[in-house]
Amino acid sequence: MTRKLKVAVVGLGVGRSHILDGYLPNKDRFEVAVLCDRDEARLKACGEEFAIGNLVTEYDALLGMEDIDIIDVCTPPGTHKDLILAALKAGKHVICEKPLVGSLADIDDMLDAESRSTGRVMPIMQYRYKEGVQKARRLIELGIAGKPYLATCETHWHRTSEYYEKPWRGNWEDALGGTLMNHAIHTNDLLFYLLGPVRSLFARIATRVNRIEVEDCASVSVELTCGAIAAVTATTGSIDEVSRIRLCFENVTIESDSRPYCRPGAADWRFTPANDAVAEEIEKALADFTPPPLGFAGQMQDFHRAICNKTPLPVTLADARQSLDFATACYWSAKTYSAVALPIMADHPFYNGWQKAF
Ligand SMILES: NC(=O)c1ccc[n+]([C@@H]2O[C@H](COP(=O)([O-])OP(=O)(O)OC[C@H]3O[C@@H](n4cnc5c(N)ncnc54)[C@H](O)[C@@H]3O)[C@@H](O)[C@H]2O)c1
Repeated sequence: MTRKLKVAVVGLGVGRSHILDGYLPNKDRFEVAVLCDRDEARLKACGEEFAIGNLVTEYDALLGMEDIDIIDVCTPPGTHKDLILAALKAGKHVICEKPLVGSLADIDDMLDAESRSTGRVMPIMQYRYKEGVQKARRLIELGIAGKPYLATCETHWHRTSEYYEKPWRGNWEDALGGTLMNHAIHTNDLLFYLLGPVRSLFARIATRVNRIEVEDCASVSVELTCGAIAAVTATTGSIDEVSRIRLCFENVTIESDSRPYCRPGAADWRFTPANDAVAEEIEKALADFTPPPLGFAGQMQDFHRAICNKTPLPVTLADARQSLDFATACYWSAKTYSAVALPIMADHPFYNGWQKAF
């Protein structure tokens, strides 16, 4: 059954982009009915911009609103856990920004809460909704790409001290981590989305770019369970900003565009076939390919379909768990100068988080 779902958006920084780029292009699927932010000026400005009259400063007010189907949590990372658990308890569906939470224990609490609720949780991973990503996934799933050999994954962004003027950014407690958790999480998710889970890794982290608590440089050597190996790097000290993933398969080399953010643009991913026969197979496989709506618009559209049809969500808590498993292993590896095997289990010293260890 298809129906219009009513949304409350909480936190109107990136929450405003969810409205603009996610809900407005899907007007027949969603109605943004309520806005919530503790910052009254921001709340009022956003209410005026989108002609939404129901404005609240207190999150708890949303929990009792019976007509609200979805709470979209776009507040700073350190607040997500409590807000998600409260929404699930109230039977609401939740969409939540990255990084979802700060430990595997938190994710496991969330999985437990979701299993007892009528609500479901979708973490935001809008970079999956790029044409090149979906083309690559199709070629891999059809077996055309062949054996995966090696990948590189770069998130090289630029952040100055101004970016860290927001008090939650740059500290372990509120941001939950540094560039690995807050920036590289998107491109790294693409690595797992396209090549599958990580078997082991060795990580180095450093804080060199800004005067902050958390890391702003990271280099990780990764072994994937599919047998391929990968080099993952992240920094906020790159004057020339790049988000790039490169995947070397037996039959094709796949290279993403290098634009740093998930925004429309002309550049596309490059697929270099090993020979003419592979080129032909690729052409055939992609002949009827329809690009998904970009970014938030695509993810929200798939979310709506999954909720209405009671089918699996496009991005799940299990996906967020994979990102957190990776991050937990990176921080432990960096702290102990050791290689780490994944998955991290409940008896691991960082299962409950790493934030107090640095
Ligand atoms: N997916 C992406 O591309 C993307 C981009 C930017 C930010 N983010 C993520 O979105 C989240 C928010 O980031 P931002 O840059 O928008 O931050 P921000 O500081 O600009 O906005 C957060 C807003 O939340 C409000 N807020 C905080 N706690 C609240 C509460 N308990 N109840 C109501 N309002 C509350 C604040 O007043 C503020 O207006 C972070 O997790 C960040 O990592 C994701």
